[in-house]
Order: sequence, then structure tokens, then C-alpha cells
Amino acid sequence: MSKLTPIPIDYSWAFSDKTIKDTSYITHGYYTYPAKFIPQLASKLINDYSEKNDIVIDPFMGSGTTIVESLVNSRVGIGTDINEIAYLLSKVKTTALNTSELTAAFDALYDELFLFASNGDAHTEIPIQNMQRIDYWFLPSQKKTLLNIFSKICLIENADVKDFFLIAFAQILKSCSIWLQKSVKPTRDHNKKKYEPILLFFQQAKRMIKKNEEFNKILPNEVKNNIERYRTVEYGDSRKLPCKSETAKLIVSSPPYVTSYEYADLHQLPLLWFGHLNDLSNYRKKYIGSAYRNRDDIDLKSATADDIISKLNKHKKSEEVKNYFADMLETFMEIRRVLKKGGKACIVIGNTEFNGVQILNAEVFQEQFENIGFRTDKVIHREIPSKMLPSTRNILTGQFTKKHDGDLKLAYPTEYIIVMEKL
Ligand SMILES: C[S@@+](CC[C@H](N)C(=O)[O-])C[C@H]1O[C@@H](n2cnc3c(N)ncnc32)[C@H](O)[C@@H]1O
Repeated sequence: MSKLTPIPIDYSWAFSDKTIKDTSYITHGYYTYPAKFIPQLASKLINDYSEKNDIVIDPFMGSGTTIVESLVNSRVGIGTDINEIAYLLSKVKTTALNTSELTAAFDALYDELFLFASNGDAHTEIPIQNMQRIDYWFLPSQKKTLLNIFSKICLIENADVKDFFLIAFAQILKSCSIWLQKSVKPTRDHNKKKYEPILLFFQQAKRMIKKNEEFNKILPNEVKNNIERYRTVEYGDSRKLPCKSETAKLIVSSPPYVTSYEYADLHQLPLLWFGHLNDLSNYRKKYIGSAYRNRDDIDLKSATADDIISKLNKHKKSEEVKNYFADMLETFMEIRRVLKKGGKACIVIGNTEFNGVQILNAEVFQEQFENIGFRTDKVIHREIPSKMLPSTRNILTGQFTKKHDGDLKLAYPTEYIIVMEKL
């Protein structure tokens, strides 16, 4: 059992009074990113542990929640992610666009696409790689319409406006495919309800235009007018942060779990369309924990990690778990490099289980930090009332389930926020 388990749950960190409207306010509602944390959580940590103009970093920025909240709270936001969709999304979510420019582009797309709908002629000027994989996921009629939408977006000259509409396009892809609805595993459903891509696309774009307007209103002018100074988002690895040594005040991040390579699977539809996915198994290797390196001699700097790995010894997951803790330790060393003395690293993480062995992520991370020059400031134990992860899921169908079947069980009913201070 985890040493952290007896820590009482602090219900003030559950934010259970927050509605979907609250958690998807401003640009947070642009895209359904798996396992994102709610903006209120990021904002509270930012306000508790940093001041205006401080540098706040998220090495695993995902959909950019920490970066958006940093900007809204007048902090300098820096983020990286190894997923191209996460990078594009974070960039779009932190770019306050001019509403009239967006509306003009929307109207032009609307005219062109409805014109196409009436004469039935698809324009496919944009070369698409991976057409076979696209055919696997999309019915011909929907593919044809999506191709048309995609090629029109690609012709938009203003890069920020183009990226904005690419995110609207990415958001509708799952609904317009035969990907089994609500499944987190790539599974096809040939009886799936067919949505009309053009209607979905314009509904989504319209919603996003409203949210962009809200973002414009809420973003402090000083940040909006100096966005290049306040925001750095990069496609890159958590172990190479775009930040000078000892300059950052705060890290707010929720790292991937051991099976983080599943993010590659989850995002494969937009990755395919945007030409980032030539070889899925190779693509997965850049994710934390999944690099197939031999780590036999590595000192994980955590007795708990060593214990977990010895318990998993005969299980196929033991190498993956070792790689995962090794990669996370390297990330923590990079965090130590960028943080100022007294700066805090707030890591949001839950524990998991493989084959009856508890993977005590929070405890391992805490030990690793303590062994590289940090002290524990606080450990918050919180409930996750609305997290997008299922408490359990069927590993064959990927559908959410109440039963505990299969050897892989994901259960995050509560999680920890470990607050570590650099000494
Ligand atoms: C739990 S998600 C973060 C979600 C984020 N807090 C949000 O609100 O959207 C973890 C992220 O880690 C990213 N990741 C995995 N391996 C990485 C690596 N080596 N470097 C940077 N990011 C990585 C995944 O792509 C994923 O977006």
C-alpha cells in the first residue's frame, strides 16, 4: 500500500461545483484532449505558487491547459509536448485572433464548401499521405467531403487562421469516422451513425469563434500585445525544455502514465490527416516510457520503484515500467535545471495497477525528486469527479466498463498533487 494513501482527501481540490461550461471556458473548449486536467486546478496552483510575470512551465503540456491559464493570469507560459496535435492545439488555444478576420475566413469557407455541396465536385489539390489508412477509418462519402474541407482550409493564407480551422477539423474527425464512439482503443464500428462533416465542421468552427472572442476579452492587454514574450510552446521532448537555467518559478504538469504511447493511437485520425503518421509503432517510441532502450544499469533513485520492478519481474510490463521511471527521472532533472532555488514543481499523478502490482507513481516521483535536490512542500490527495479517463475499461473493446476484466486495469478515482520545492 502507498505511504501516501492515508493522506486525507482534500475536497476543495475536486472542483466538483464546476460545470462543463466552466471547465471548457474560453479556448479550453476547442478540442477533446484525453486526460487533460481542468483549468481551475492549473489556475489555483499558478496563483498559489507564483506571481505575475513569473515563468510557469508544463513539460507535458498536452492541450495547453497550464499555458492558457498562465497567460490569463499574466505569467510567462512555456510548454512542450511530443505530440504534434498537442503542439498545434496549444498554439491555437493561446493565440487570440481578430474576430472579424476569423469571421471573414469562416464566411469564405462557407461559400466555397456549400458551393461544392451543390455541384458535388471534390477538389483535392492537397496531396494526402497515408490514404490507405484514411480509407480504413472513413467511409468514401465522408472522406470525400472531409478532403474537400481539408483542402480548402490548407489554402488559407494567414497561418494562425489556417491552424484555427485545422483544429476545428481535427475535432470533428472522430465523429465523421467509423471509430467506435467513446472507445479509447482504435476499434471500428460499421454501424455507426453517420454525421454530415460540413455541418459538424461549421458548428464546431462557430463555437470556437465565440470562445476566441471570450479569450480576447479575458486576456490581459499586456500579454496580448507581447504574446511572443509571454508564450513559448514547442513540439519537443520534456527532457529538453526551451528555458534558460534557473529562471522558472513554477512547474504545473500532469505527466503521461506508463502506457503513454497510447496517446499516439488516440490521436491517430488528425495525425493521419496532417501527415505525421507514417509508421505508428515507430511513432510510439518517442513517448515517455516506450523507448526500447536497455536500462539495466540505471539508478532510478527510488526504492519504491526498485521494489515495483522486482515485483513485476516476470511480467512483460516490467521493462516498460523501468523505462518509464527512468524517463521521468530525466524529466525531473531537466525541471531541476530550469527552476530557480525555492521554485516549485507541482506534479498531478495517480497510481495504477498491473497484474495485481501497485504502480505507486506519486510515491516514486516524490522519492526521485527528494533524491535530486528537492524537498516535499505538500502532498494534496484529490478526488477526480469529472476526469475524462474511465475508472476501468474493457481492454478488448476499449469501452468503459464497471467490470474489472483483463490484466490491465486503470483506476484513477483519486490522484495526488505532489508539490516539490527546489533546495
Ligand atoms: C496527461 S497528458 C497532459 C495533459 C495536459 N495536462 C492537459 O491539460 O491537456 C500527458 C502528455 O504527455 C505527452 N508526452 C508523452 N511523452 C512525452 C515526451 N517525451 N515529451 C513531452 N511530452 C510527452 C503526451 O503527448 C501527452 O500530451
